[in-house]
Amino acid sequence: MDGNGRWARERGEERVFGHASGVESVRSAVSAAGELGVEYLTLYAFSTENWSRPREEINALMELLVKSLAGEVNELIRKGVRLRSTGDISALPEACISGLRDVEAQTAHCTGLNLILALSYSGRWELTEAVRRIVRSGTPAENIVEDTIRQHLSMPDVPDPELLVRTSGEQRLSNFLLWQLAYSELHFTPVMWPDFREDHFKAAVLEFRGRERRFGRTGDQVSGGVQDIKQGIKKEE
Ligand code: IPE
Ligand code: MG
Repeated sequence: MDGNGRWARERGEERVFGHASGVESVRSAVSAAGELGVEYLTLYAFSTENWSRPREEINALMELLVKSLAGEVNELIRKGVRLRSTGDISALPEACISGLRDVEAQTAHCTGLNLILALSYSGRWELTEAVRRIVRSGTPAENIVEDTIRQHLSMPDVPDPELLVRTSGEQRLSNFLLWQLAYSELHFTPVMWPDFREDHFKAAVLEFRGRERRFGRTGDQVSGGVQDIKQGIKKEE
């Protein structure tokens, strides 16, 4: 979710105004994802690197988080959305931690969209944590395979993203889900996050659905219907 600050400055407003306006885009994304039958939506809301922003902006973002969680919980439950979080949550202010834990508990029974907030998150942080857990587990080096790493990620039950969307014209991963994005399709759009609404979200997913995903195979193998080579390939792709 990128471009809040620039969007606000273009309008002669403070950056925080852009963050507040971006909350409506989050609502739109959740609603569009629900309509499209998306099972997992992970929002990169605050990165490890974002801690180096001015204190006032960080505080405003954290307040916005607390306010939004409290304000949205009933709507999330109504829509069957289960909220989860990933990242170094213990680094967040106490009010954010308790707000998150509260909404996570209240939506734990929901079976619709899994909405994951990445907070104080970075891909390198997650991989570093995974290595620490593997070392602590005492697994012998020769027993470590790709799946060992996957199982020690923060959310081992969550499948790799099929599609990454980044707004605001930047074409970088910025330390997001580095392990999980290995085979994801990428969608970059110049639209700033506060302007990114349901139609943009749906257009990105529809465009993605038209792409051929080969996972290292040849085009002939894919059109010939080889479907069991890699987890996640479905017939309609
Ligand atoms: C993304 O918008 C929101 C967060 C990182 C919280 P930015 O704040 O990065 O906006 P720009 O990139 O400065 O326009
Ligand atoms: Mg930015």
